[in-house]
Amino acid sequence: MKHEIVEKNLGLMIVLIVLVISGGFLAEIVPLFFQKSVNEPVEGLEPLSAVELEGRDIYIREGCHVCHTQQIRPFRAETERYGHYSVAGEFVYDRPFLWGSKRTGPDLARVGGRYSDAWQRQHLYNPRSVVPESNMPAFPWLFEDKVDHTKTAAKMETLQTLGVPYTDEQIAEASAQVEGKFEIEALVAYLQQLGTVISETR
Ligand code: HEC
Repeated sequence: MKHEIVEKNLGLMIVLIVLVISGGFLAEIVPLFFQKSVNEPVEGLEPLSAVELEGRDIYIREGCHVCHTQQIRPFRAETERYGHYSVAGEFVYDRPFLWGSKRTGPDLARVGGRYSDAWQRQHLYNPRSVVPESNMPAFPWLFEDKVDHTKTAAKMETLQTLGVPYTDEQIAEASAQVEGKFEIEALVAYLQQLGTVISETR
């Protein structure tokens, strides 16, 4: 039987497996590189400001992405709760992506503007003071530490090299914009813009 030949010949089997997988790759993945809907930014998308970018790094440092996803799936239960489902064009400037896969807390893809700055600050200082049953950790040190402004410009330059459309002027102003800001200010600025480029009515 022909099948037996394949099963008993490891070298041939490896070659055939590689062929099948690369065929799948060519058919499924490669077209995405050229597909506009996943490559182009959605209308109105701007790269993060210097302060928001630093906020994003604090978000990563504190492990917020370990408990919170940033991707709303196109299911009714999700869109009713969080808003418009996430689309690829919202994330083209995100490096690395923070989609996440575990929801200990709610999805944050559209949390921007849902609460006031004051609520966000209070919640991060002590989650239980606004959501009594919360098991989210408190992050009081964000209110004491200032953002390190010496590396902001270099971070933006790196992103510029990777294709994020920062202007040289934005990079030149970055350090001054971040200097003196507390970490909490940067983090809240980051949270407040999340998902706001697509409105509910779209
Ligand atoms: C150990 C898991 C955990 C970590 C880490 C965590 N959170 Fe949460 N978060 C939760 C849970 C659970 C809730 C729901 C209860 C609440 O609102 O406090 C929540 C709620 C939130 C909400 C309100 C969302 C909404 O739609 O009501 C925001 C905003 C938020 N977290 C931001 C953050 C940020 C920013 C960080 C990192 C500094 C962070 N979280 C870290 C578990 C976590």
